[in-house]
Formats: sequence, structure tokens, C-alpha cells
Amino acid sequence: MKLLCSVLLLPLFFEGLLAQCPAPSNLVNDVGEKLCARMFEHSNMYFDQSCGGVYLDAMNGDDFPYMPSGWGNKISSLVVANRCTLKVWSKSGKAGNNRTFNAGVVYQLKDYANGLFGDWNDSINSYYCTCT
Ligand SMILES: *[C@@H]1O[C@H](CO)[C@@H](O)[C@H](O)[C@H]1NC(C)=O
Ligand SMILES: *[C@@H]1O[C@H](CO)[C@@H](O)[C@H](O)[C@H]1NC(C)=O
Repeated sequence: MKLLCSVLLLPLFFEGLLAQCPAPSNLVNDVGEKLCARMFEHSNMYFDQSCGGVYLDAMNGDDFPYMPSGWGNKISSLVVANRCTLKVWSKSGKAGNNRTFNAGVVYQLKDYANGLFGDWNDSINSYYCTCT
């Protein structure tokens, strides 16, 4: 039992410390289904340590005017899969500012302007993800 616990807990523990953004060309969930995007709780100025913390998966067609519980103002980095587009809004109900992210890695949402003075770190409150 003790061994089992260690085996299960270790990957979770290291996930946050040694995070690495997944490639847009190979973005799948834990059971191998193709994702539209994966959004992460943390970012890092060292890009090879970005995409840390817990994550939220978006499938093709996922339309969330209201974030899943606990996810408002929480996302700090993200990856959009090839041939997919993630549209985000700064306020729930698809209000406030909006921005479209095409396929690629966004290591720090902080680096993307949101309105005149803001940025997108911890500012996503609606999203819509589609793939062609
Ligand atoms: C995105 O923001 C622009 C500028 O405020 C606005 O004109 C447009 O309608 C918005 N698009 C969506 C889909 O909310
Ligand atoms: C993003 O926002 C959170 C909450 O305000 C903050 O703790 C974190 O340092 C911010 N990240 C960056 C890269 O600014």
C-alpha cells in the first residue's frame, strides 16, 4: 500500500516543478483523445518550466460562456492544438475583451495584451474552442 501511494503521488508532485508544455501537434488527453486546447494554472518565465499546475482540457466544439467551477481568472498558460482555435473572453457570458489564439504554445498569458493596460494572465472567463 505504501509503495502504491508513492508511485501514484510522485508524478503529481513533479508535474508542477518540472512542467513542460505539450506540443500542439500531439495534444491529447490522458486517455489519448485529441484535444482542442489545454489550459494551465501556472506559467513561468523559463519557458521549459511553463504549463504547470492543474489543467483544463477543451475538446473540439467546447463552448463555455461560464467557466467550469473554479476556473475563472485562473489560467496562466495554454496550448492550442494544430488546426484548432481557442477564443477567450475576459468576462463571463462572452463579455469584456476577447482574443483568439491559434495553434501554438502560449508560455505566458501575461505577455498578451488585454485591453489598453491589462494582460491575459488569470483573466480568462469564457472560452470557445474549435478545430477544422
Ligand atoms: C471581440 O471584441 C471586439 C472589440 O471589442 C468586438 O467588436 C467583437 O464583437 C468581439 N467578438 C466577440 C465574438 O465577442
Ligand atoms: C498571474 O496572476 C496570478 C494571480 O494574480 C499571480 O499570482 C501570478 O504571479 C501571475 N503570473 C504572472 C506571470 O504574472
